[in-house]
Amino acid sequence: MYYPEELVEEVRTKNDIVDVVSGYVRLQKKGANHWGCCPFHNEKTPSFSVNGAKQMYHCFGCGAGGNVFTFVMNYENYNFPEAIKHLAERAGVNLPELEYTEEMKVRENKRSRMLEVNKEAAKYFYYQLRTPAGEVGYQYLRKRELSEETIKKFGLGYSGKSGAGLVQYLKQKGFEDTLIKEAGLANYSERSGLVSQFWNRVMYPIFDTHGKVIGFGGRVMGDGEPKYLNSPETLVFDKRRNLYGLNFARTSKSGNIILCEGYMDVIAMHQAGFNQAVASLGTAFTSEQANLLRRYTDNVLLAYDSDGAGTKAALRAIGILRDAGLTGKVINMYPHKDPDEFMKSEGKEAFQERINQAENSFFFEIRVLAKEYDLKDPEAKTNFHREIAKKLCGFSEELERENYLEAIAERYHIGFDNLRKLVNTYAQQTGLAKPVERPKSGVQLKNAPEEKGKKAQRLLITWITDEPQVYTKIKSYITQEDFTDELYRKVVDRLFADLEQGTYNPAAIISMFTDEEEQRVASSLFNTNLPELTTRQEKEKAFHDIVYAVKKNSYEYFTTQLGADVTALNKVIAGKKALEELAKTHISLD
Ligand code: GTP
Ligand code: MN
Repeated sequence: MYYPEELVEEVRTKNDIVDVVSGYVRLQKKGANHWGCCPFHNEKTPSFSVNGAKQMYHCFGCGAGGNVFTFVMNYENYNFPEAIKHLAERAGVNLPELEYTEEMKVRENKRSRMLEVNKEAAKYFYYQLRTPAGEVGYQYLRKRELSEETIKKFGLGYSGKSGAGLVQYLKQKGFEDTLIKEAGLANYSERSGLVSQFWNRVMYPIFDTHGKVIGFGGRVMGDGEPKYLNSPETLVFDKRRNLYGLNFARTSKSGNIILCEGYMDVIAMHQAGFNQAVASLGTAFTSEQANLLRRYTDNVLLAYDSDGAGTKAALRAIGILRDAGLTGKVINMYPHKDPDEFMKSEGKEAFQERINQAENSFFFEIRVLAKEYDLKDPEAKTNFHREIAKKLCGFSEELERENYLEAIAERYHIGFDNLRKLVNTYAQQTGLAKPVERPKSGVQLKNAPEEKGKKAQRLLITWITDEPQVYTKIKSYITQEDFTDELYRKVVDRLFADLEQGTYNPAAIISMFTDEEEQRVASSLFNTNLPELTTRQEKEKAFHDIVYAVKKNSYEYFTTQLGADVTALNKVIAGKKALEELAKTHISLD
């Protein structure tokens, strides 16, 4: 923690969340909540709710959520200490100088020094581009039809003919060898000492959403290997959690994000006015990046290369987007290779047309699949239909599955009833989607076992915070240890300790985390949709199901840890006993 906890709480309680959010979003009171259009994704009907009693907000559309600090961090793009400072000022609370531990000081200091050295390196490259020696780089970029304005906006540069110049420059600016090396800018060699990683390349600085330079991509001019050289992962450069171009795209008003494969694609798109384009950082698209995107949109358009590799990468990205709850559509680049080349040959109006025609990602998947089968051959055709049926099982929501079933049956001239029968067969075989076997309590759990366990944990936490008296009913069965996710466990540790004291305060628990994404996850634990049940019997059944699922999940988890963790055996034995007891116990909710 940067500030003492009491002070953080004082700042939080003196900034009523409804007041603060009202400064940014028009809210209307309806029931216990205030409602408005979510500022973190594009929407026309309000699904963003602020709860004054809980002092939390939650968007039912994009899953954004947290306490007043999270809101300000998210909206103003502040880090935690900055958000505290901002809100302290707003409420007239005096803050002391930051209390850092020695270790934090060293780490923070190193981070900020690394950002400084990166910024200096970016300046050096940028300057080199304008020298006679850098003319070759400048001409390369101009030949690729980048305007002077675009080169400036993206801070493009040139790395110099030799690897020595950058190192010399940085050392002269007072940066130590170790820092230059740890920032991934240079390497030691026996023969030449510290030498830059990058030479004779055009340089693309990579910015985080705060506009800080966190790394570089360098492109060889012409043909050469490797085509792109990227900074290694460092203390400030996490390739899984950042996206090229997001520093600009985050404020785009387009209502969608266009995901490309290459830096050059992003730059060409922005130059053409598509300021919502981003790309992953020389590695495949990750679930962390999908979560990052979800803060800004729920509508992602894929503009991947039209070749085989691009199609494969697109299929992977579609799955990741779907898991993150985002809608993916695919932009057809044909006959051009990538957005950069498309833009050069056909221009932005034609591209806008392609955006409008972007294909539903499921249709895209099936269309790609169809190419693998000779549909004139009855056997191949049958196999194709089987594959379709399997894929349709991926939709756990019945209505959605039916709608896709109908559309696909029509598109590929498959008898609707036949396809549906096939889907039901697979659904039963794989246990993926069981339309008839809904749990009677109405508690819907997702398919993946891990997610299923986590969902049950979230439901239980939300239930306990909504009705804290149930805590005493489950104490003898459930402990902190049953929460198998590390972050969940931290939340529960504190929540249970608070409940033992007879006080609890979810909004304060969120401030235990300093990272915005962690705050969002922590907050989601208090805002999971509980089943809407009317009779007490139904409620007790649902509650029992949830408690049982949490216990079963932890029992199964610790079973896998046998051998790896010496305490696991005890937990497995205790877990088994608790499960047996739970199975025959009725938990009353009176
Ligand atoms: P241009 O040829 O300059 O138009 O590049 P592009 O942006 O079209 O790149 P391409 O489609 O070849 O590759 C997409 C992205 O993959 C690039 O932006 C890089 O981030 C990454 N990439 C490409 N080649 C390499 C490589 O050789 N090494 C690494 N690490 N990454 C690469
Ligand atoms: Mn290209």
